[in-house]
Amino acid sequence: MEIIITPDYEQMSKTSARIIAREIKKKHDLVLGLATGDTPVETYQELVKIHKEEGLDFSKVTTFNLDEYIGLAPLHKNSYNLFMWENLFKHINANSENVYVPQGNTDDPEEFSQWYEEQIKKAGGIDLQVLGIGGDGHIAFNEPGSSFASRTRVKALYKQTIEDNARFFEKVEDVPRFAITMGIGTILEARKILLIANGENKADVCAQFIEGPVSSQITASALQLHSYVTVVLDEPAASKLTRTEYYNWVRDNKHLVQKKLGR
Ligand code: GLP
Repeated sequence: MEIIITPDYEQMSKTSARIIAREIKKKHDLVLGLATGDTPVETYQELVKIHKEEGLDFSKVTTFNLDEYIGLAPLHKNSYNLFMWENLFKHINANSENVYVPQGNTDDPEEFSQWYEEQIKKAGGIDLQVLGIGGDGHIAFNEPGSSFASRTRVKALYKQTIEDNARFFEKVEDVPRFAITMGIGTILEARKILLIANGENKADVCAQFIEGPVSSQITASALQLHSYVTVVLDEPAASKLTRTEYYNWVRDNKHLVQKKLGR
């Protein structure tokens, strides 16, 4: 894993947007996996800025979102689908035919999940998957105990996730108890992965998934099994890491090994 520690949320967002933009410039028909939550909001704003000011072209990009709450229609105010349109898609030249977000109000979530997996395959697999991290260490909605071989499926949400995400709803009882989520196996098949995290409340889980043991109890630790992961953190989120000096040295001296890393 490459660990990039940035001073604050703004720099975390700028750095991660640049990483995404670079991949789109390299491959115009990039297959891009996207995440929701507060963390990527400014990254998406930066991408919009790069689109408007530098002409970053999304017209051939295909996107797959990680997850969606079961029971919410695509235009429900708390749906991840609406979140994505409000925060990114409507501000760029996204082709709606190439935008995939799991359908929360599908009649048959299991069948839908299989269809979603097939669409990812048909698109040629995900080139770059953007991830946030939940307070319990989850990626997408792969709650503690999720199998590392899991595929897109229905997952019951953990109590802490329901409480964490209650801030987006009027009351905690309104938070759906289930979601459709890409599995850890699905995520690990992405060619490259970019995980972003900010804030002191993420410091413990970041230390656990980066420097702790690989464990299904912190599902982000599955990323240790992937060969190309970049983690961009702000200082508060990185505050419990023990090898900060090493990560910073690598960041600042990357040009010495850039060719070897191919980054
Ligand atoms: C939800 C999403 C995750 C996201 C997490 C963190 O649980 N399913 O994909 O990473 O929230 O959200 P936030 O960025 O708001 O902390």
